[in-house]
Amino acid sequence: MSASSNRPIGIFDSGVGGVTVLKQLYRQLPNESIVYFADTARLPYGTRSPEEILQFVREIMVWLEQQNVKMVLMACNTSSALTLDIVRSEFNLPILGLIFPGAKAAAQKGRRIGVISTPATAKSNAYLNAIAEIEPSAQVWQIGCPEFVPLIEQNRIYDPHTRKVVTEYLSPLIENQIDTLIYGCTHYPHLEPIIKEILPSGVNLIDPAKSLVQSTEQELELMGLKNHTNPVATRFCVSGMPDQFARISQRWLGYPPKVEKVNLAVPSLLTVDS
Ligand code: DGL
Repeated sequence: MSASSNRPIGIFDSGVGGVTVLKQLYRQLPNESIVYFADTARLPYGTRSPEEILQFVREIMVWLEQQNVKMVLMACNTSSALTLDIVRSEFNLPILGLIFPGAKAAAQKGRRIGVISTPATAKSNAYLNAIAEIEPSAQVWQIGCPEFVPLIEQNRIYDPHTRKVVTEYLSPLIENQIDTLIYGCTHYPHLEPIIKEILPSGVNLIDPAKSLVQSTEQELELMGLKNHTNPVATRFCVSGMPDQFARISQRWLGYPPKVEKVNLAVPSLLTVDS
């Protein structure tokens, strides 16, 4: 076992979406310590430009590197779709994203695949391309869902308006008789109770976080970085208001997290066009 195996894994999202990835980490890799960063001051990411998203991700990566993490999981599909390949070549850390694990899990289940995601992820065609590579015979329908993240971050899961919006976004997928649905945004599994009421019951639901964490375990084993000692408590850090993040995430975590506010230093050498 490497001496650095007890360093934490860094994970990040724009907000509480990454909690769905965190819960998979708790389930599948209970010995790992985790630093969770949520860029709540700048969410939602999914309606921003690729350049802005790349700049934010670079800033977060620099900060996570300073926290001495041994690996980074992008617990955000938008960041994974738009920046994974770029930042992998810029940072000397293993970095894992959600798109390939999600696409692979979906292609193993069905041939008529719906993807609900942020508009930025849908526009990138990241899932469409990844699925085409893995299973060329699969058909894919992508829906950008700009209203979901704000509703989830406002804790409005059970609001009648949310139900109406879910119905609207899912209806073209239901019309096309999908057999598999990918949660192409880590916030969306939080809507599962509503989604399950609206989708026909036979549709496979794919949460890419499950497969991402399976790949994480393999990667840690391979690099001799899996922790076998007791983990320390998850450190939650946000760029916005700590109380708000604590209040909303408590519902899914099952405990009120202690949340720190941190300032990301803008890396002067990394500019958007470099
Ligand atoms: N949860 C993130 C994702 O998976 C980002 C959502 C957003 O901020 O728009 O794409």
